[in-house]
Amino acid sequence: MNTVIPAGDVHIAPSLLSADFGNLAAGVEEISSHTPWLHLDVMDGHFVPNLTIGPPVIASLRRHSDLFFDCHLMMTNPERYLEAFERAGADLCSVHVEIGKTAELIVQMRELELGVGLVLNPDTPFATVAPFLHQIDLLLIMSVFPGFGGQSFITEVLPKVAEARAAIDAGGHEVILEIDGGIDPTTIGPAALAGARVFVAGNAVFGREDPGLAVDALRKHAHAALLGQ
Ligand code: DX5
Ligand code: ZN
Repeated sequence: MNTVIPAGDVHIAPSLLSADFGNLAAGVEEISSHTPWLHLDVMDGHFVPNLTIGPPVIASLRRHSDLFFDCHLMMTNPERYLEAFERAGADLCSVHVEIGKTAELIVQMRELELGVGLVLNPDTPFATVAPFLHQIDLLLIMSVFPGFGGQSFITEVLPKVAEARAAIDAGGHEVILEIDGGIDPTTIGPAALAGARVFVAGNAVFGREDPGLAVDALRKHAHAALLGQ
């Protein structure tokens, strides 16, 4: 990874999916002084029923930003594009375990010196990624079915987040635990208490009048939940 981010740090990862696609650089600028992270949702119209951005857009954004580019690849064939994402300036790519190929994709990402992330859909059990914990930098647990922003948080994933937290801690793994989907001021606390430390937020950041302040407010809610525990 280009940037080393300690696995225990609490961060908000704004998702550009809810920003103005005609003015993405301005969206990045709005949140840049509020968080070191940016979550980039790549959809291929096949793994999920939607299309978004790819390496050319990420390369353009890279010229405007030094943020940590956390690329969430909702793709059936990420192996064909990983090199292009690395060249575009991705710091870390996360691939879905539902497509299979996990072991090969980890090797490929390591060879490219990309940060290595795995993603679990809401109905995919933690056991699917358990054997890979010592090989990855980030585990992303989806709290909505991927494809669209602005969906409601699926509370039923919280036990899986807790299961992942326990396994990461028990194994002494330096793995960032990230959660994605429906994060807002009311859901971020429970997600933090379950063990997530990086919180993707699209609608709750770019759907607000002041995205930067929304990032700060979300981080405060996460810290408050963790301090109160
Ligand atoms: C969903 C994406 C998410 C999405 C989150 O497929 O992976 O990153 O942008 O958006 P909100 O926070 O609006 O649920
Ligand atoms: Zn995402």
